[in-house]
Amino acid sequence: MTELTLRRPDDWHLHLRDGEMLKGVIADSSRHFARAIIMPNLVPPVVTTEDAAAYRERIVAALPAADRFQPLMTLYLTEHTDPDDVEKGKQSGLITAVKLYPAGATTNSHSGVRDMEKAMPVLERMAKIGLPLCVHGEVTSPEVDIFDREAVFIETVLDPLRRRLPELRITMEHVTTQDGIDYIKSSKANLAGSITTHHLIINRNAILVGGIRPHYYCLPVAKRESHRVALRAAAISGDPRFFLGTDSAPHVDPLKECACGCAGIYSSLNTLSCLAHVFEEEGALDKFEAFTSLNGPAWYGLPANEETITLVRRAEPIEFPPKRMTGAGSVTVFDPMFPLHWDVVS
Ligand code: DOR
Ligand code: ZN
Repeated sequence: MTELTLRRPDDWHLHLRDGEMLKGVIADSSRHFARAIIMPNLVPPVVTTEDAAAYRERIVAALPAADRFQPLMTLYLTEHTDPDDVEKGKQSGLITAVKLYPAGATTNSHSGVRDMEKAMPVLERMAKIGLPLCVHGEVTSPEVDIFDREAVFIETVLDPLRRRLPELRITMEHVTTQDGIDYIKSSKANLAGSITTHHLIINRNAILVGGIRPHYYCLPVAKRESHRVALRAAAISGDPRFFLGTDSAPHVDPLKECACGCAGIYSSLNTLSCLAHVFEEEGALDKFEAFTSLNGPAWYGLPANEETITLVRRAEPIEFPPKRMTGAGSVTVFDPMFPLHWDVVS
């Protein structure tokens, strides 16, 4: 196959940041994607409906005039989030989901939740009104090894929450382990998972072998090879519970290339080319559209996009810029470590 036309994809987990960074990166998403769930971990975070409305306006103002990209806004769950404000956000059509960051789990998560009990009134309201919860599924206890944090989260936080509030719809974002895949597959209802482009491509060797490579460091951190294989199997299965959330997360290079570098991989610019390569390698191009364009909208109760995009397989590898230059500084683009041939042409 050398040409592929599919419904326009959506990105169900995206960091656009703010200010000069937002202006510098947004076109890499709006060029190819119709919609994206926008992460609320700004400084300060997007905690109220009013914050989200203002952030949405800044995003729309930064969009290239020709792009009809729709930002789907989220609220950052804190221990003080007001259930009435959340309900207002959902009813007005502004808010698509609420995001749970366990406090300290990742970039700008210190205002997140320490005690789940304190978040229960909001979660109960969300279950009642059918508003999904997106979770960063890692525990933060220092005694838990970083490679085990997802599995321990499932056992100690996610499963108890789902037993207590079975009607709450939960997206386990950026699943990185076989444990996560198995847990989602074992659920009967109200649970789905997004998978990033990079976790389908790298394992933890990419970060650590032959030198420390900060541009492959993200959270949840990439795991051993057997987990990557499990993620690929889920992504290409066509199972409607799995869909794309790139977690493209730009940081300027000095904040990645230093003694304590930030977590985040910037992949918006070449994500679809990388993914087409993965699906082709797996002999599963017939499942590409389900993963990028159909399963996500079905889970979020939205129509699939009517517009299409076309990818063409070039004989020669395509060159992508290694860095995205922004007004905030340069951002290194995800390098999949294989040549890319699939080109998005329209
Ligand atoms: O690698 C990551 N970067 N993981 C996250 O959960 C947050 C993100 C960011 O905001 O930089
Ligand atoms: Zn993220």
